Amino acid sequence: MRARKAMHASDEAMVLRVPRARAAASNGRRKRQSLKLAVAGSVLLAGFLFITLSATGRAGSADPSLEAKINYCKDCHGPSAQGYRGYFPIPRLAGQQPEYLENQLRAFIEHRRTNNIMFNVAHSLSPAMIAALAANFRDLNPSPLGGAPRGLVATGKRIFEDGVPDANVAACAACHGPNATGSGQIPRLAGQLYPYLINKLTNWDKERGQNPVRPDISAVMSPVAHSLTKPQMEAVAAFLSYLR
Ligand code: HEC
Ligand code: HEC
Repeated sequence: MRARKAMHASDEAMVLRVPRARAAASNGRRKRQSLKLAVAGSVLLAGFLFITLSATGRAGSADPSLEAKINYCKDCHGPSAQGYRGYFPIPRLAGQQPEYLENQLRAFIEHRRTNNIMFNVAHSLSPAMIAALAANFRDLNPSPLGGAPRGLVATGKRIFEDGVPDANVAACAACHGPNATGSGQIPRLAGQLYPYLINKLTNWDKERGQNPVRPDISAVMSPVAHSLTKPQMEAVAAFLSYLR
């Protein structure tokens, strides 16, 4: 992962270096003219370069720095953001609700949600970049990775649709929607990775709502995560992981 990170950093440096080198070269040429003209010229040139660069960015419907960031996310989250089963399960972002993604990125930064890898990724992102990134994954629709035990799916479907009445667990569908696509700050769960889902449900109170000064919506999931047994978590995770 470190190698990927380094590769990304140099890519980003390249994107920044090219326009700077061009601006410097043109500056040199203008030094022969009067100082006043040189200053005015380079200001104009810088303005021209800026407009040209932002115009090309828009014409290609891709801001180069946003594009570079998205590729960086995909280094870990998979080429279509479908998730990745490596040393840690890395969650699917494809099709995820923008408001949820934005809130989670802020949660990592504000220490409401603990995860060292994502803190390091998120803390340097500007608010505008966070909003642009969060909006980017909504339209991706790769197939789920699958791989969960098929035998658990029927039990999982029942838990998703009806909850666990004996243990006072509300139906997941009541909040996450009948097709588990989520809405607003409530996440899509459809197609999410089996081991990731189990891991989040198991560790809820150690990872979410960790900043007492900033209570958040994660509190509503806490009693749900608490009341599910391990086999129930596995069953509902298996069902969700195959859902398109
Ligand atoms: C070095 C690997 C790595 C990179 C690069 C990376 N992520 Fe992550 N991301 C992770 C891991 C691991 C998790 C799971 C954290 C956990 O278990 O709570 C995660 C979780 C997330 C979550 C929470 C998802 C959910 O369903 O709650 C969001 C949102 C996220 N990443 C967005 C991004 C964005 C946007 C980028 C690019 C700017 C990015 N990530 C880059 C590894 C990475
Ligand atoms: C009362 C509403 C509510 C109910 C019922 C509910 N959830 Fe949630 N769930 C949420 C909210 C809100 C979040 C986002 C929490 C956050 O921001 O940290 C969430 C987040 C999650 C996440 C984290 C997803 C991720 O990408 O990290 C999982 C997993 C989850 N819910 C599973 C379930 C399951 C399984 C059930 C049913 C057994 C269920 N939920 C029932 C509201 C609910």
